[in-house]
Amino acid sequence: MTADRLPTDGGMEVTIVDDPDAAGRAVAATISATVRRSRSCRLGLATGSTPLPAYRVLVRELGGTGTLDHVEAFLLDEYVGLSPDDPASYRATIRRELTDALGLPPESVHGPDTQFRSDGRDGPGVGLLEACERYERLLGIGVDLQLLGIGRNGHLGFNEPGAPFDSTTHVVALSDTTRSDNARFFPSPADVPTHAITQGLGTIRRAQHLVLAATGAAKAPAIAAALEGPLDESCPASALRLHRRVTVVLDRDAASALS
Ligand code: PGA
Repeated sequence: MTADRLPTDGGMEVTIVDDPDAAGRAVAATISATVRRSRSCRLGLATGSTPLPAYRVLVRELGGTGTLDHVEAFLLDEYVGLSPDDPASYRATIRRELTDALGLPPESVHGPDTQFRSDGRDGPGVGLLEACERYERLLGIGVDLQLLGIGRNGHLGFNEPGAPFDSTTHVVALSDTTRSDNARFFPSPADVPTHAITQGLGTIRRAQHLVLAATGAAKAPAIAAALEGPLDESCPASALRLHRRVTVVLDRDAASALS
């Protein structure tokens, strides 16, 4: 594996490696170091394809060691209207891909509560807005480390272009790009939910340490916009440049549009 480190302003370190597996190893090493260092660790997790190589490494290294009693996991976002048992829900996805194999009990895996009845209120009689406030309160001062992917349109979580940099956990209508990118996880494109609850950019920025991973040429324009374009709400990921500690892990394809 070769890795280049590019100098950036402020607290951002950019690491460029050869391929997605090497990116996975680099991300896993960062997460692992945080988990091992902390007596009580709040880990922000992302779903999607990008983190999967990192999750495989973490399961290999930390799974079954029985040393994760001090870890609590927090989802970045969740679709509205899917029960936590729906295989396409992010709660079910993260359990399947990571936390069950790590031995984290389901009650240590938190996410926005997005179940709702047809009247727009969820099971215990709480509406989506209240669910957002509850999740925001649960996140409190922020997680120790938040892992992030990036959308082709520069989104972070489900913060689509135009999202305010100081937003808190909120309900979003998903853009057409995002719905079509995520259609592969559903039986048909029409099954992709139209709304989600996401941590806001302000919520994400409360994390002590942000780790952004991107692999593949399709992400190159978004990475260039986030790291070198205007610091502007048209690219939600440009908000990362306002944070004091960001680790960006890219493979060569995702880094290919950087100057
Ligand atoms: P991906 O999604 O990892 O599946 O590319 C990332 C994102 O949309 O945030």
